[in-house]
Amino acid sequence: MRRHEHLYYVADQPEIADAEYDRLERELRDLEAQFPDLATPDSPTQRVGEKPSESFPTWVHRVPMLSLDNTYNEEELREFEKRVFRQVGERPIDYVAEPKIDGLSMALHYEDGRLVRGVTRGDGVRGDDVTPNVRAIKSVPLTLRGEGVPRRLEVRGEVFLPRARFDAINREREEREEEPYANPRNVASGTMKSLDARVVALRGLRIYVYSVVEAEGAAIRSQWEALERMRGWGLKTHPDSRLCHGLGEVLAFCAEWQQKRDDLQYDIDGVVVKVSSFALQEELGYTSKFPRWAIAYKYPARQATTVVRTIEVYVGRTGKFTPVAHLDPVPLAGSTVARATLHNEEEVARKDVRVGDTVLIEKGGDVIPKVVKVVEAKRPPDTEPWAPPEKCPICQTLAVKSEGEVDRRCPNASCPAQVEQRLRHFARRDTMDIEGLGDVLVHQLLEKGLVRDFADLYHLRERRDELIALERMADKSADNLLLQIEASKSRELRRLLYGLGIRFVGERAAMLLARHFRRLDAIAEAPVEEMESIYEIGPVVARSVREWFDREENRRLVARLKEAGVRTEEPTTAAAAEQTFKGQQFVLTGMLERMTRDEARAAIEARGGRVTSSVSKKTTAVVVGKDPGSKADKAAELGVRRLTEEELATLLGGG
Ligand code: IVH
Repeated sequence: MRRHEHLYYVADQPEIADAEYDRLERELRDLEAQFPDLATPDSPTQRVGEKPSESFPTWVHRVPMLSLDNTYNEEELREFEKRVFRQVGERPIDYVAEPKIDGLSMALHYEDGRLVRGVTRGDGVRGDDVTPNVRAIKSVPLTLRGEGVPRRLEVRGEVFLPRARFDAINREREEREEEPYANPRNVASGTMKSLDARVVALRGLRIYVYSVVEAEGAAIRSQWEALERMRGWGLKTHPDSRLCHGLGEVLAFCAEWQQKRDDLQYDIDGVVVKVSSFALQEELGYTSKFPRWAIAYKYPARQATTVVRTIEVYVGRTGKFTPVAHLDPVPLAGSTVARATLHNEEEVARKDVRVGDTVLIEKGGDVIPKVVKVVEAKRPPDTEPWAPPEKCPICQTLAVKSEGEVDRRCPNASCPAQVEQRLRHFARRDTMDIEGLGDVLVHQLLEKGLVRDFADLYHLRERRDELIALERMADKSADNLLLQIEASKSRELRRLLYGLGIRFVGERAAMLLARHFRRLDAIAEAPVEEMESIYEIGPVVARSVREWFDREENRRLVARLKEAGVRTEEPTTAAAAEQTFKGQQFVLTGMLERMTRDEARAAIEARGGRVTSSVSKKTTAVVVGKDPGSKADKAAELGVRRLTEEELATLLGGG
């Protein structure tokens, strides 16, 4: 069965039909039910959890990646120790207590001190080889240092996203009218599945390693020693892990970190308690799912109840209404909570949140608390279902709700709320990157009438005196700001385009449009059809861009930006590759040697081609690397052209 699993999942070259494999699996399940002792953790039947994603090579873990059993209170933790005592006899035991980070586990493989592989947990037996993504995590050393680095080493750890990064990412998503992510854990695991390692690098993921799985020739006798050794090799271990003599110290550690968890820059959901001695660990062994020498002590969810005083509507950059519950302030997880987002009117209706209601709120992985539910027994008489306002609360324009959209919006593009949000967006780091132009300053500039739109920013120099007169502004900071504004004139076209705040034009769409058209004027004149012909640009984006540039006031705005000297063209030097692959589709299979898959993909896309994951009649060519999968056969079957890596390079070079 293992051989067939390998042929199926790893080599992509099955030799037997799926039904035949299913029959084998049923037979094994029956056997294991009869002889439970023989059901090892790495048995093909013991696969639990998520399936590996298809887009990465599969890696079979040499040692299965298990999960941990949970306990929720002191008593259950004492039970754990009793079970340990029953197996190894009652004796003083050293434990290692480690903060349990809520992220995703990752195996790192080193050979001769070099990182050769990073693998996700997958289903515990097979994971995704996400090496390029792991390399993009800065806290993963690419080479080890120090004394006695083993020839072969496998360590495991937790990849996670610090809270501040999570908040920033969600803010950007909300700006683009995308659903915010639920919690940092989801973002971390989503990011590790990205096929573009650049995304990973930008996200700011981190890792803490917590176990040595294989260390050829290194005699390590305990978990505590393992942490020390890993640290010595330059790996990042959790700085607060502690060697505890006896369960009492473990319990103190758990209580201490339950208090301190809110001060951390990332989420922990408990403490991992491990018997330190490897000899004892070996004696204790494993159940089919968990080690018997370790357990997770989980903290309770952080919830509170409070009363909804009002439900206010916030108006975003594109006029979108977001209902926000204003609450009686309650302490929760280290801060005082006075507001909770309700996302959109449908959500309010679904939960039937009303003014006056007592609600249960929760701070999960995410920092913005959410309303879990209404405590109906506490609903006062005479409440009414919440109705979204008919008019924009800021400019009183009649709100509109288009068909198929969940959100109501303010249609007035000059609505002060929208103008303010747009200016903030324009100045942000991922758009025009105007350092020093933060939210407070944007507000002041608008209030004093120093700017009304983006273009006015580039005339601020003429009003330097008024600028200095602003609160908290001095000669030096004003001049710095003016310098930064000046510098922003030469940002790339994609940043300017994203910065304009056109509905549905996020960072990626802006990049694709800029790459295709290379001049803002060309985008301004482009017919919807031409935009839609760009791979990944859909009708919604295309129509939104068209509508934006069709508005007279926007055309004037663009003209004024150009007048002020803002760059609106992509430089035409070497960067502009000829579109020699326009309309062509490529599939990559097997390992490429001269470039990574991502590089090959980028090079093909830069020339107007597409890279898809499966071979069909529409495929122009399949690029066949080393150890190709079944896609190479499929190409032969369909009569699709096959290219070696060299041939691809020639085509790229000649382009
Ligand atoms: S040890 C067999 N140590 O928690 C050993 N896990 O609920 C299993 N985790 O899958 C893992 N911090 O993703 C261990 N210091 C730590 C950990 C940790 C977080 C995660 C890990 C594991 C899950 C189990």
